[in-house]
Amino acid sequence: MGRQADTTGVKLDFLSPPLPAELAASAARLVVPILHEEFLERLLLGQFGPGAQFVAGIARDGEKVAGHCWGGWGQSAAPIGVVAGVVTDEHYRGKGIASALVAGICRRFDAAGGKLLFLGTTNPDARRIYERLGFRNLIGSVYCRGQFSPARGFATGLTARSHPAAWRDMGSVLPLYLLPHPCMVMDSVTELPSTRLFAPWRCFRIFWENWQSVENGGSWELLESASGWAVASALARPFPSQEESQSAGASDFSVDFIWHPDYSDIGLEFVRDFLRRAEKQCRGGPCLFLCDRDEWKQRAAKSLGFSCAGRGVRNMLVSGERWALDEYRRD
Ligand SMILES: CC(C)(COP(=O)(O)OP(=O)(O)OC[C@H]1O[C@@H](n2cnc3c(N)ncnc32)[C@H](O)[C@@H]1OP(=O)(O)O)[C@@H](O)C(=O)NCCC(=O)NCCS
Repeated sequence: MGRQADTTGVKLDFLSPPLPAELAASAARLVVPILHEEFLERLLLGQFGPGAQFVAGIARDGEKVAGHCWGGWGQSAAPIGVVAGVVTDEHYRGKGIASALVAGICRRFDAAGGKLLFLGTTNPDARRIYERLGFRNLIGSVYCRGQFSPARGFATGLTARSHPAAWRDMGSVLPLYLLPHPCMVMDSVTELPSTRLFAPWRCFRIFWENWQSVENGGSWELLESASGWAVASALARPFPSQEESQSAGASDFSVDFIWHPDYSDIGLEFVRDFLRRAEKQCRGGPCLFLCDRDEWKQRAAKSLGFSCAGRGVRNMLVSGERWALDEYRRD
């Protein structure tokens, strides 16, 4: 960063959760109305865990929180992280506060052995700050600091192990879902639910939305390569969701999955295995799979033993809109 931040009267701190309750609440009051990170207060209170390290950058003018951002990364294996929650109170903007906070998170990430730091933005003011700090556009609204090479990231060591998704995986989930993957490219073109589930200007929402969607008894598992990257993901979520169940009676589970094209064989095996377990867990019934006319997903569904039960049999509610999708079931 060229200039020193003009932080006259403003104190910058970098704190690891748990933060004092009052401070966590003030930071959330600044950030949530703008960026909709509803989970932030709980994150700052140290309620999200396994294996993840979080640091909050906080600018304070007396008791008032003038600026905020947070970074998070896994403590082991692939040192991949995310930066999010970057907001400066409008009365304090243009003084270098956000630049100094994000730069501080980057320094801490580097010191922890971090290699690739991801973030998402569509705000041109924020983009300039990130670019000055070395972030480069990866795809769409996603930026990455460090040398990101899909080949290096995903294809080293074709052995892999599966485990339940955890907060430490937030960084490695983003590239899996955001690479120009056949089904994701299709979804972005048609603006289908899997991309509409999260606001496109917050790449971190992919992780959060998936996390939330499996709450109330669902499950989410990842297949991780030897180098620590998520190379496949499978989740089963209650369907209809609470919101939908007000209008629909039955309760079922819908599944979703993705694997990196370099890992097609073991990705397919991993999802097959996941489905077997999910079907046992999910009250013994078959899982539903809902998708639109996406060839990749249709082919994948077929190889997993799903057959199409019709279109729009049940609609899926996404951000208040109803989507008529093809419904697949396993015999
Ligand atoms: C984007 C946002 C976080 C920027 O916060 P900020 O604290 O004003 O950012 P900075 O002061 O570091 O940088 C803003 C500008 O002030 C300049 N600046 C002024 N004085 C400065 C100083 N002393 N030191 C460094 N930069 C200074 C910066 O160079 C930058 O210039 P640019 O517009 O030409 O790029 C803020 O506008 C915001 O909260 N927006 C709404 C939420 C949002 O969109 N967040 C981003 C989500 S990804």
